[in-house]
Amino acid sequence: MSAPVVEVKNLSVCFGRFYAVKNISFSVAKGEIFGFLGANGAGKTTTIRVLCGLLPASEGYVSVGGIEFLPGRENLIKQKVGYMSQRFTLYDELSVKENMDFAAGIRRLKKADYEKHRQELLDFIGFKQKLSTVVRDLPGGIKQEVALCQSLLHDPEIIFLDEPTAGVAPAARFRFWQLIGKLAAAGKTIFVTTHYMDEAENCGRIALMRSGELIELDSPQNLKAKTFSRRMYSLTPKGRDEILPDLRAFTVWEPYGQHYHAVFKDDAAEKEVLPRLKKIFHIEEINPSLEDVFIRIVEGDGR
Ligand SMILES: Nc1ncnc2c1ncn2[C@@H]1O[C@H](COP(=O)(O)OP(=O)(O)OP(=O)(O)O)[C@@H](O)[C@H]1O
Ligand SMILES: [Mg+2]
Repeated sequence: MSAPVVEVKNLSVCFGRFYAVKNISFSVAKGEIFGFLGANGAGKTTTIRVLCGLLPASEGYVSVGGIEFLPGRENLIKQKVGYMSQRFTLYDELSVKENMDFAAGIRRLKKADYEKHRQELLDFIGFKQKLSTVVRDLPGGIKQEVALCQSLLHDPEIIFLDEPTAGVAPAARFRFWQLIGKLAAAGKTIFVTTHYMDEAENCGRIALMRSGELIELDSPQNLKAKTFSRRMYSLTPKGRDEILPDLRAFTVWEPYGQHYHAVFKDDAAEKEVLPRLKKIFHIEEINPSLEDVFIRIVEGDGR
């Protein structure tokens, strides 16, 4: 196997006495789509800022694109990475061209190379508008795609996308993830955060963060299998009345809109309770989603 593109060993980041990231370790391989998930304040953005050379680690070892992050090497790391920040992507009052020119200027890209590559990237996202379009006038999904292009101008090996689809319409989110898939297929390494669990299903592996700690790291499939060793059912009430069964029979009983997702605690409970429930619920066996996993692991413990 080739050397990892990102390697993190025992990384901690503290602000004063507060540890935003606590002793986390993982590595990411070339061409991977690596999902970095966790509730608000879990430490995702802080970790990304370290990996982009923007924030020094308080403790631990970090290497990105084969370069160990040591004081003075920030710029070497910045050349290897593309970064779409969570808070800020493009200047709304500038045009697409002006935003791109600005980014190219900061990176000191050669004019001819830059203009050619800019066009290739805009073709890649299927950008149909004029370069002179002011960013404010772009639909939210297109704005995020242009921001993606901007983060790719210097042809980085690895791209950090911090909630790139937050607040974007579902069809545009789907398009954005198609672009992510194409980039990974072309050998780029993708490190992405999202709060949308349907998106996380597209990741090769997922790291789950909670309160600065890395609590799980595996493929979506393995996470589901590990978290739920028993069958999961979806139950839809037949009538309008709210009827709750005896919850002691379950390890999972979660409301999902008009349905419930349920897992029995053991065979005996399932055998005894399931036939009775069938009188009041439409019941079908389902595959757990990452949403189920996330609720169980990340939010479940704290309640
Ligand atoms: N510069 C800073 N100074 C002090 N505390 C900070 C600083 N940056 C982040 N924090 C704190 O560190 C914790 C982790 O923040 P971080 O932004 O990494 O979380 P996140 O997982 O990206 O959350 P979100 O999903 O809301 O973006 C939070 O409690 C945050 O308030
Ligand atoms: Mg964040």
